[in-house]
Amino acid sequence: MTDDSTFEDINVAKADMDHIYDQSDPRTYFRELNKLDYAIPGIAKPIFQKLIGHLHKRQHDTVHVLDLGCSYGVNAALLKHDLSMEELYEHWGQKKLADATPQEVVACDRRFFADLDEPEDIEVIGLDQSENAIAFAKAVGLLDEGLVVNLETEPLSALAKEKLAPVDLVTSTGCVGYLTEKSFDRLLPAVTQGRAPWMANFVLRLFPFDAIEETLNDWGYVTEKLEGQIFFQRRFASADEQEQVLEQLSDLGIDPTGREAEGHLLAEFYLSRPVKDAAEIPIKRLLPA
Ligand SMILES: C[S@@+](CC[C@H](N)C(=O)[O-])C[C@H]1O[C@@H](n2cnc3c(N)ncnc32)[C@H](O)[C@@H]1O
Repeated sequence: MTDDSTFEDINVAKADMDHIYDQSDPRTYFRELNKLDYAIPGIAKPIFQKLIGHLHKRQHDTVHVLDLGCSYGVNAALLKHDLSMEELYEHWGQKKLADATPQEVVACDRRFFADLDEPEDIEVIGLDQSENAIAFAKAVGLLDEGLVVNLETEPLSALAKEKLAPVDLVTSTGCVGYLTEKSFDRLLPAVTQGRAPWMANFVLRLFPFDAIEETLNDWGYVTEKLEGQIFFQRRFASADEQEQVLEQLSDLGIDPTGREAEGHLLAEFYLSRPVKDAAEIPIKRLLPA
């Protein structure tokens, strides 16, 4: 069982990125993460799309996605539009935007995203503690709803609970670790008011998922890990970060040879579903390699 003080300790090993999470627009976020080849939202996209496709077939209606730690609407941009991470890096790194004010970036992005097709029938609710990131993602139309809340320290408001009732799929990339079982404990009563949603989390190998899994169990969920698949999140920010992460992995009994030892911060994929849904279609059939 992991307690949140363990997650706090692990977070000390990771490079501190807090300064890029709460800006008026995503330019700094994308500039800094480009240097580290941050890729996990793009790698997660086809897996999230398969889950959305499946849920869509099941309910023949708009799929409501809740993206945890959504930041500037990165997963929403990828899932709503035919865009890749490379294209997002190019877009927010373009010279034309370098000297623009945040208001000009919002105006430009509103047009940019409005002109793109939306092939998927989805609505995205984003949740993040960053007020600026949520405000940006809502202003440019990436999020249909935005919830500014830190569920580690505060409960959901009554209005937020209402907005979360229709959620069919909960997604996250680069977020578990900041969020612990505490957040899931506060989220679960709200998202299970109707049909309990599926939960699709990409989680760094250095964050044990067991405490979140136990919380989900209490709400009738079963969690499966996509076995044999490891996903590139980003390169290490420094030799120091790598050294600390390798130490943490060694404490967990995880062999980093040829992986984190080569400089790659790696994630695994956990799918949590109500017991009945998981029994109907095992993860291997849902997401074949
Ligand atoms: C590494 S970023 C990932 C953003 C996005 N999902 C992506 O992959 O590009 C982590 C995000 O988690 C948010 N975050 C950190 N702690 C949080 C908390 N306690 N509650 C809500 N959001 C949090 C940060 O503001 C930031 O936007």
